[in-house]
Amino acid sequence: MSDAPRPAPSSLDLRGVRKSFDGGWTFAVDGVSLSIAPGAFTALVGASGSGKTTLLKTINRLVEPDAGEVRIDGRLVGEQPAPELRRTIGYAFQGVGLFPHLSVAENIGVTPRLLGWERARIAARTAELIALVGLGSEHLARAPDQLSGGQQQRVGLARALAAEPRVLLLDEPFGALDAVLREDLGAQVRAIHDRLGLTTVMVTHDVMEAVLLADTVAVMHGGKLLAHEAPGALLAGHPDPFVRALMESPRRLAERVAELTRAHAS
Ligand SMILES: Nc1ncnc2c1ncn2[C@@H]1O[C@H](COP(=O)(O)OP(=O)(O)OP(=O)(O)O)[C@@H](O)[C@H]1O
Ligand SMILES: [Mg+2]
Repeated sequence: MSDAPRPAPSSLDLRGVRKSFDGGWTFAVDGVSLSIAPGAFTALVGASGSGKTTLLKTINRLVEPDAGEVRIDGRLVGEQPAPELRRTIGYAFQGVGLFPHLSVAENIGVTPRLLGWERARIAARTAELIALVGLGSEHLARAPDQLSGGQQQRVGLARALAAEPRVLLLDEPFGALDAVLREDLGAQVRAIHDRLGLTTVMVTHDVMEAVLLADTVAVMHGGKLLAHEAPGALLAGHPDPFVRALMESPRRLAERVAELTRAHAS
């Protein structure tokens, strides 16, 4: 990966973001304000249907909010042409979303091609990324449907990183991976984030993963943001009962595993 000097990391600011898909009867995202510091890695957690994907998509304008503002480095995203904006934001879709008619290599190179990179640079970058996500180069010529679900997810991650984005949006990037691979790839994503000076928002169902990987954890419920704090602060307790219950789950699991281990050893 290029180690050329990179600009300072981007800040991300959402103010009063709302989105309804039914003309205002219900709100998928209901007045969310969220500030993410330059270079922070934020995990976005919450129940299914709580608005995580919708909120994430307002950042790269795959969803246009009904109200509110989204800014990257102080610039309103709504005032930037969407295609241009999206080339500076890496995005890995929930459920992968690879282009089925393109090979793995072509999928990874989509944005660099749009940006007019030379073929040799795209090929070098593609080779680098496929190795980074732990796949052999023999996968590059394959079609997405010749890969397992977990392999497709890793290609999706490589594609999101291909054009050296400043902001990385990951929507359940490890959903189809087994636990060991998930942990390994999570640590790798965190290392890539640190090395490239990215600002990352990662949606995950896994609270344990969120608290172990992220600098801050944002909790959504019914379209609202209930909390946004450092993992340690959230684990120490929170006034909201939903947040408290959610944050207790990693500790409960860890305690049960420790108990089982003790019982086995004695
Ligand atoms: N394009 C759409 N049209 C209509 N309703 C939508 C659309 N996208 C999302 N919704 C609705 O908005 C709400 C929030 O959905 P969203 O996908 O943001 O949730 P989520 O937190 O990402 O859930 P999950 O964890 O299951 O992925 C849901 O009630 C969903 O049905
Ligand atoms: Mg979702």
